[in-house]
Amino acid sequence: MFHARDAQASPPVIRREDYAPPAYWIDTVDLSFDLDPTKTRVLNRMRVRRNAEQPPQPLRLDGDELNLARVLVNGQGTSFKMDGDQLVLDGLPDEFDLEIFTTCNPEKNTKLMGLYLSQDTFFTQCEAEGFRRITYFLDRPDVMASFSVTLRADRKRFPVLLSNGNLVEQGVLEDGRHFAKWVDPHRKPCYLFAIVAGCLAAREQRIVTESGSEHLLQIYVRPGDLDKTEHAMQSLMHSVAWDEARFGLKLDLERFMVVATSDFNMGAMENKGLNIFNTKYVLASPATATDVDFDGIESVIGHEYFHNWTGNRVTCRDWFQLSLKEGLTVFRDQEFSMDLARTASARAVKRIEDVRVLRTVQFPEDAGPMAHPVRPDQYAEINNFYTVTVYEKGAEVVRMYQTLLGREGFAKGLALYFERHDGQAVTCDDFAQAMSDANPGSTLALHLDQFKRWYSQAGTPRVTAVGQYDAEGQRYTLTLSQTCPATPGQAEKQPFVIPVIAGLVAPGQGDLAVSLHGGEPATAHTLVLTEPSQQFVFERVTAEPVPSLLRGFSAPVVLNQDLSDAELLALLAQDSDPFNAWEAGQRLLMRQLLAAVTGAGDLAAPLQADAVAALRSTLRRSDLDAAFKALVLTLPTESYLAEQLADVDPQRVHAVREAARRQLARDLAADWAWAFDEHEDNGSYRPDPVSSGRRSLAGLALGMLVELARETGDSVWPGKAYQRTKDAGNMTDRYAATAALVNAGHALAQPALTRFHDLFADDALVIDKWFALQAAAPDRGGDALGRVEALLRHPDFNARNPNRARSLIFSFTGNPAAFHRTDGAGYTFWREQLLAIDAFNPQVAARLARALDRWKKLAEPYRSAAHGELQKVAAHPSLSKDVREIVEKALA
Ligand code: PHE
Ligand code: ZN
Repeated sequence: MFHARDAQASPPVIRREDYAPPAYWIDTVDLSFDLDPTKTRVLNRMRVRRNAEQPPQPLRLDGDELNLARVLVNGQGTSFKMDGDQLVLDGLPDEFDLEIFTTCNPEKNTKLMGLYLSQDTFFTQCEAEGFRRITYFLDRPDVMASFSVTLRADRKRFPVLLSNGNLVEQGVLEDGRHFAKWVDPHRKPCYLFAIVAGCLAAREQRIVTESGSEHLLQIYVRPGDLDKTEHAMQSLMHSVAWDEARFGLKLDLERFMVVATSDFNMGAMENKGLNIFNTKYVLASPATATDVDFDGIESVIGHEYFHNWTGNRVTCRDWFQLSLKEGLTVFRDQEFSMDLARTASARAVKRIEDVRVLRTVQFPEDAGPMAHPVRPDQYAEINNFYTVTVYEKGAEVVRMYQTLLGREGFAKGLALYFERHDGQAVTCDDFAQAMSDANPGSTLALHLDQFKRWYSQAGTPRVTAVGQYDAEGQRYTLTLSQTCPATPGQAEKQPFVIPVIAGLVAPGQGDLAVSLHGGEPATAHTLVLTEPSQQFVFERVTAEPVPSLLRGFSAPVVLNQDLSDAELLALLAQDSDPFNAWEAGQRLLMRQLLAAVTGAGDLAAPLQADAVAALRSTLRRSDLDAAFKALVLTLPTESYLAEQLADVDPQRVHAVREAARRQLARDLAADWAWAFDEHEDNGSYRPDPVSSGRRSLAGLALGMLVELARETGDSVWPGKAYQRTKDAGNMTDRYAATAALVNAGHALAQPALTRFHDLFADDALVIDKWFALQAAAPDRGGDALGRVEALLRHPDFNARNPNRARSLIFSFTGNPAAFHRTDGAGYTFWREQLLAIDAFNPQVAARLARALDRWKKLAEPYRSAAHGELQKVAAHPSLSKDVREIVEKALA
């Protein structure tokens, strides 16, 4: 199936509206593997049944890079055709046994999809369409089968043989080989299939759940890494307990396994009972992992575990429904981390961090050439749609159900969803319907069709708020209106259902208890905006208030609200909602930074005195957590600043933000010194939110103090930082100290980096940090690209390892002032690396291709230079369809 055009035809597009149920069902699959690095033999015996509800047609099985040796129908040789990569069988009975024998070459599998080798261990990755690289199959999520698997391999080299479900038999074979047979008691789509074979050791934990069932939890790693699995195991135990406590969802397997590999395209994969993880999200010790890593492990372990229900027990009908499992599961892992955080302040910190990701990554995606709805309508390559829109915006959509229905209503909806759909492959509509049906009469139920526009319309809605206070009538009238910008293929948008949590803050008094449209007085109300424009009237408003809107970021929108500096300062100091207190500070900083970028502001000191003073008093407050303070005192990112501008000069944005950082370093010098001394801990390391918040603030302070030393010539703070790179008790502090020197371009950076490398030469995840730190450091005098090119030749660099490629190349393209050079050399580097990686791993290359998504927003000379490089990529004769889809959209 190829749309005949020219030699480099656009890849064919798959459309959601073309969905048709499968023509055949596969009820059982019995796989047997003779594992061999260069030639693995796969015997696949299936029980197949025609789907009587579909018109009779040939059976078309998907395959990719397979060598086909034999096909038997009911034990008899049969004729077949190949149509591209598909194996086509015609004239079949209504029910039959199908036996297919193929071979593949795991060692040559550089795409890391299907069966591959990593450090002499076999792994599989099947989502989304990798199973077809293992055997011919109906590789689509609505075909669910019962799997049994026999693995045979050399006993010495591959002592551990794993697959989904339960181990039912194992034994020794001739010629030094052995075997293991696994049976998965749950039907599943083939994207959840997995095997692992190699030399691994496991941390094991037996647990008894709240409801009394017993399970074995195992975390498999390379034997030398066992001492780095404690945090992952703790996180897994917490996940099991949390899902049962919060949603009544129990572990449905006797044995739950997690296996770590250092070669993995993504973060982790929820294969039934056999999750496969990037080592980055399993391995941690205080000496080698930062607080951010510890948090990442907790949330990814949670995420994959929670997929066991949201994704595996109920799966997706087709890949357009990806957010059905991903948005819901991200929401669940976010809630998990927030519930574990325990204090209100730590919950807010987690929320702020999640929103920051949404705004710095998803908002740009939603405004660029790859903008797509949470439930996309079409794709050329599904791997390109594992996006922040499907994941993070999808999670915000799920969060809005909870905001509209309340925690209990949401839990009821989820319970109904499982009651109706357990064991099925379903759609986002089915989820929405369950939420609504479980809550009849709710606002959601009343506006369900309109609410579902969150799934079908791309783009970030804009909400504008205008308020008017009537002192005499003690009445405050708030007018909210909404619009949504056009996105590719969607010129006009219909209004969304937007929950806006609102409070009224009276300066000096705090939250006012007010009544909305005559209802019960309360300090917060959920306003539901459904019309293009709507008025909300608050009564008993005893003082002129500052409206605190979109508390907790109650909807994924841009809020336009004309607040004065004084009003923002009041919210920063007094809003009872910590998210909005942080938000007010960010708005104030953003306003002043943008003024400096567009020319009106002062480049030497972009921030105004009252803003700096407010940051100082926040820093000095005794009633706030350190983690929260660190967030308030961190300037908006360059990419978020750039998004606010029509015509972006990345060098100018960088210069302004750096100037503001220097100003904060200077103006708050005494306060940073105080903050460092006050928050530095020398006790034993614990990754809890309170102590990690202290480290975060101390690290921020140290960075500021070393930055300031560049100007003053002070050697005390750089000396302290250098000392810390030597004697820090944990990686968080060591990394922060090293980063402080590297980011300031201090002469001590080089010896610190050398030591760092020597100390951790054998730890790949730490060496990743070593590369990333250097690639992300500010460009001083245009030397960043040269530094990165030199690192590319470092003996430890290897682009075939995705983590390593990300740590150097992606960190560089994510470093705006280093990447966006007036001579365009950063873009040339990007093209060369992109094409090199595309030749062996299209999925990773396609992610790198996204670095120039927003080229049309760039000012000259960046814009033309970026355009030129994109065109060169598009003209390359042998692009993967992954990269082709991205660059064609960027150029459209
Ligand atoms: N489904 C995985 C997740 O949890 C992501 C993934 C997709 C991993 C494709 C590998 C390949 O989010
Ligand atoms: Zn997921």
